[in-house]
Amino acid sequence: MVDLTNARETLIGTWKLLSVVAVLASNLTHIVDEPLGPTPFGRITFTPSNYMHAFLTSPWNAYPNLNTSSWNETSAEEKLKITGNMTTYMGYWELDEKEEVVRTRVDMALFTKWTGTLQRREYVMAQDGNRTLLTLQASVGERDGIRIVRNITWEKCDEKGC
Ligand SMILES: *[C@@H]1O[C@H](CO)[C@@H](O)[C@H](O)[C@H]1NC(C)=O
Ligand SMILES: *[C@@H]1O[C@H](CO)[C@@H](O)[C@H](O)[C@H]1NC(C)=O
Ligand SMILES: *[C@@H]1O[C@H](CO)[C@@H](O)[C@H](O)[C@H]1NC(C)=O
Ligand SMILES: *[C@@H]1O[C@H](CO)[C@@H](O)[C@H](O)[C@H]1NC(C)=O
Ligand SMILES: *[C@@H]1O[C@H](CO)[C@@H](O)[C@H](O)[C@H]1NC(C)=O
Ligand SMILES: *[C@@H]1O[C@H](CO)[C@@H](O)[C@H](O)[C@H]1NC(C)=O
Repeated sequence: MVDLTNARETLIGTWKLLSVVAVLASNLTHIVDEPLGPTPFGRITFTPSNYMHAFLTSPWNAYPNLNTSSWNETSAEEKLKITGNMTTYMGYWELDEKEEVVRTRVDMALFTKWTGTLQRREYVMAQDGNRTLLTLQASVGERDGIRIVRNITWEKCDEKGC
């Protein structure tokens, strides 16, 4: 059990990705799509020194069964299959408890354009039985003139694993 009233203490640690859903900004329960499919894979870690790393992708079984012995030998086509749905970035984070927002100043990102940007995520923390859940919400722009946000939901890992 965690003390949800202490947002910083709750956030620090490692989380396992449960789902990524695109929803309408005007109706957060209306799912538009699941960009990483129904069983995405990911971890996010917030350290006590305010650094974070995130890794999100579609499930491993979507990947080719590589027979190369190094990344460098892997064909461009296979590399694209592996990285096509991947998001990974890292940087210093800060919590704004008043606005219920986490902001990360991105140091490095697979999508290189994110480097140096400030990534803003609204957060909601909740307890579901013995699971601690975190939803990070990102604004991802408009689709056909309709504003879309992404709910990225995580479950906290404990010492025994994720
Ligand atoms: C998206 O997140 C918001 C805030 O936590 C929540 O109210 C909404 O129900 C979520 N939508 C879905 C489809 O999970
Ligand atoms: C929001 O979306 C849900 C799921 O599609 C739907 O059941 C509900 O009626 C919508 N609410 C409004 C106010 O449109
Ligand atoms: C990305 O994920 C979607 C949804 O699961 C899937 O349809 C698509 O093939 C994936 N793309 C790559 C490059 O793996
Ligand atoms: C890897 O597998 C592909 C397709 O099965 C084959 O064409 C290729 O020769 C194999 N490469 C190596 C290094 O074994
Ligand atoms: C990848 O392989 C090519 C061809 O063998 C070689 O020239 C290059 O230095 C290698 N790059 C890395 C990063 O190992
Ligand atoms: C958490 O709850 C589930 C279902 O209620 C139970 O199966 C599981 O053993 C519990 N895990 C821990 C670590 O208490």
